[in-house]
Amino acid sequence: MATHKLLLLAGDGIGPEVMAEVKRVIAYLEEAGLASFAIEEDLVGGCAYDAHKVAITDAAMDRAKAADAVMLAAVGGPKWADVPYEARPEAGLLRLRKDLALFANLRPAICYPALADASSLKREVVEGLDLLIVRELTGGVYFGEPKTITDLGNGQKRAIDTQVYETYEIERIARVAFDLARTRRNKVTSSEKHNVMRSGVLWKEVVTQVHDREYKDVELEHNLADSLAMQLVRWPKQYDVIVTDNLFGDILSDIAAMLTGSLGMLPSASLGAVDEKTGKRSAMYEPVHGSAPDIAGKGLANPIAMIGSLGMAMRYSFNQGEVADRIDAAIAKVLADGKRTADIAPKGTPTVGTQEMGTAIIEAMQSVA
Ligand code: IPM
Ligand code: MG
Repeated sequence: MATHKLLLLAGDGIGPEVMAEVKRVIAYLEEAGLASFAIEEDLVGGCAYDAHKVAITDAAMDRAKAADAVMLAAVGGPKWADVPYEARPEAGLLRLRKDLALFANLRPAICYPALADASSLKREVVEGLDLLIVRELTGGVYFGEPKTITDLGNGQKRAIDTQVYETYEIERIARVAFDLARTRRNKVTSSEKHNVMRSGVLWKEVVTQVHDREYKDVELEHNLADSLAMQLVRWPKQYDVIVTDNLFGDILSDIAAMLTGSLGMLPSASLGAVDEKTGKRSAMYEPVHGSAPDIAGKGLANPIAMIGSLGMAMRYSFNQGEVADRIDAAIAKVLADGKRTADIAPKGTPTVGTQEMGTAIIEAMQSVA
């Protein structure tokens, strides 16, 4: 059996707690003979700053590059509010994305029937929801230059961020979206703001060309990003795959996450291009939620998004879809059985902690075999 080389970056806040549950799932998979791993661990975010005065060290970056996949939990917290901008916790995450060239961020939003009442939207709006946001992750305003604050010398300052996309960046993310749509309900919604942004004009043009050239069999529609945000809370089930840029993808995926009941439910995969020689692609898997400093260290965090991210690693990096299915089925079973961490429990109902949820998922993995 192939041994999967994983680098675990637990990060800050609730990161170590939810990563601990992933380690238990990994131990279970090994014991059960379902998978084999070689695990390394390192620091990213505020904890890396405390130890090394940077958000991630070059040595950790080298380990990330050498791994088959990186699992990252969460970074950041109020403790690091005043560290230099270049060393802020988020800079570690952004460096991983950029230096590993993880241009395709897959953020599935699935509403488990058992959780339809945990959403702030009506049950009929979200029940059975299954959409996938494909977010461009290494371009756009996150990385565009210039990115500066200049003192104008008259008591005023000028801040500049640059939104920039080139044809190839739009083409490759569009292909990821179309390919995934073919494995699902065969529909892609592309989102930008071509009514105010030149990058939106190019985005729409290039996605349309890729579609007409290579993916005529897939249904394509274009929605302006503001309108899509509105539609996501009005009738989200009209969507299958949504492809959009880095910033709109950041915002729209938080909306999509909340449709499912809680940010604590959503895993994500960030993928690079497939290397033509080795057939491998760099990859990082992380929950969409943040470090939740308010509940850190209390054993309250929901580990489902983190464990679901391991499932995505099994599916997208290790070609072990049956193990991923088993993880997903275990999560669904535990929820159907009524287990709830605090973030997904109706007011006044009993809750379980992080470890108890992890235990329940591992037990369910045995029974859903
Ligand atoms: C996300 C997060 C990050 C982002 C932050 C932590 C830099 O919000 O992964 O969605 O903006 O991309
Ligand atoms: Mg975000």
